[in-house]
Amino acid sequence: MGWFLGMGFGSYGWNKQWSGNAGKDIANPQLFIDMATSLERAGFDYMMMEDSSVIPDTYRGTLDESLRAGIIRMDPMPLIPLLAERTSKLGIIATAATTFYPPFLAARLFNTLDHLTHGRVGVNLVTASPDAAAQNYGYDKHFEHDQRYLMADEWVRAVKSLWDTWEPGSLLLDEATNTFADPSKVHHANFEGEFYRTRGPLNTVPSPQGHPIICQAGGSPAGMAFGAKHADTILASVDGPAAMRKYREDVHARMILEGRDPSEVKIMFLVDPILADTDDEADERRRRRDAVAVGAVDAALMRMSYISGLDWSKFDLDAEIPDITGQHNGHQSVVDDFIKASKGKILRDALAGQRRGTESVDMWGSPATVAAKMDEVMQEAGGDGFLIALPVTRKNITEVCDGLAPELRKRGLIRDGYEFDTFRENLFAF
Ligand SMILES: Cc1cc2nc3c(=O)[nH]c(=O)nc-3n(C[C@H](O)[C@H](O)[C@H](O)COP(=O)(O)O)c2cc1C
Repeated sequence: MGWFLGMGFGSYGWNKQWSGNAGKDIANPQLFIDMATSLERAGFDYMMMEDSSVIPDTYRGTLDESLRAGIIRMDPMPLIPLLAERTSKLGIIATAATTFYPPFLAARLFNTLDHLTHGRVGVNLVTASPDAAAQNYGYDKHFEHDQRYLMADEWVRAVKSLWDTWEPGSLLLDEATNTFADPSKVHHANFEGEFYRTRGPLNTVPSPQGHPIICQAGGSPAGMAFGAKHADTILASVDGPAAMRKYREDVHARMILEGRDPSEVKIMFLVDPILADTDDEADERRRRRDAVAVGAVDAALMRMSYISGLDWSKFDLDAEIPDITGQHNGHQSVVDDFIKASKGKILRDALAGQRRGTESVDMWGSPATVAAKMDEVMQEAGGDGFLIALPVTRKNITEVCDGLAPELRKRGLIRDGYEFDTFRENLFAF
């Protein structure tokens, strides 16, 4: 089990019920520290912090809507050691955009974070999509979608070659000979690619995991090929058990083509379960949630604008959306899936009928009911686990960690204590 923090180290519901002092506590790490300790108590594998580098301004061509809503994100990297200090087993993943981090900087950063977390860090690799993000890093516009993945592939190879510049056994610390490291076992990377060059070696020492966990979430063919080649854990948002099974089989087939064993990846499907004391109460909460979502046309347009890089305020809500498949440079799979599902509907209805965001299967009920549903879906889809995508509030954290997790444990679906110390070992042990 993992938890996807959909606004990264950002603000969750500063003006909403059950968000505590979210407005006052922006940039305060305590909520995330509380979350990490709860997830560890519950036996989770990891928490994954989403990230981006922009205040979106695609919708209506202005920052106004984003600023009104509070779409901000602090840099998640400095939060990692604070989370690690208060936990001892939980995996901690933060997002880095391959397009913007120079490989040397990323390799050194994640090596150091792996030390500071005692082997519990992971990196979620994204190529990022908005031009506005690219412009923050000095580019005129973003690279084309599939080229971004070609660059990302080279980037990972460069980073791994830097992580490998210190061979096992290279750190001697031999007082008798006054030798810190064995010069014959530390070498240059001399990585020369089409997009990246880096010399190495890293001026750090080998970290507990050597290679921190690599996480990825691309749904397009290029994104899936990248994940199949490099990822240890893949996050997926596909609709329903049959599609989940197909997605998993597709990733596994791609892994075999890359010479990897399918057991080397954990595929996690997004869910945002609605939990309550009884099934009836949960159903009532679900109805209220869906009613709010249907009314939130602006929010849906804003989200699709961000994801596609096109301004959706220009589309007529009372007409079918033009087929923009292949004509945008955003999150290809998400936009293409929406266009496919919108055929024959006016945009207003298509947005209202849209899966509200990310979940693979709708789930609601008492903790026991939801645990049973998760069991059933995993049997059907043959998956490795779920990624909770609920907003980060202490109420949601408690419901999942102290309500749902014990029910999952009764069914043997979540660990009862961790066997190992490093993230990599624990992730693949259960
Ligand atoms: C669970 C999940 C988490 C994601 N996290 C991020 C993120 O932190 N930053 C980001 O720019 N994109 C993020 N994405 C977008 C993906 O990296 C990817 O661009 C998207 O799934 C579309 O796939 P494609 O690029 O292969 O078309 C996420 C997607 C999913 C499903």
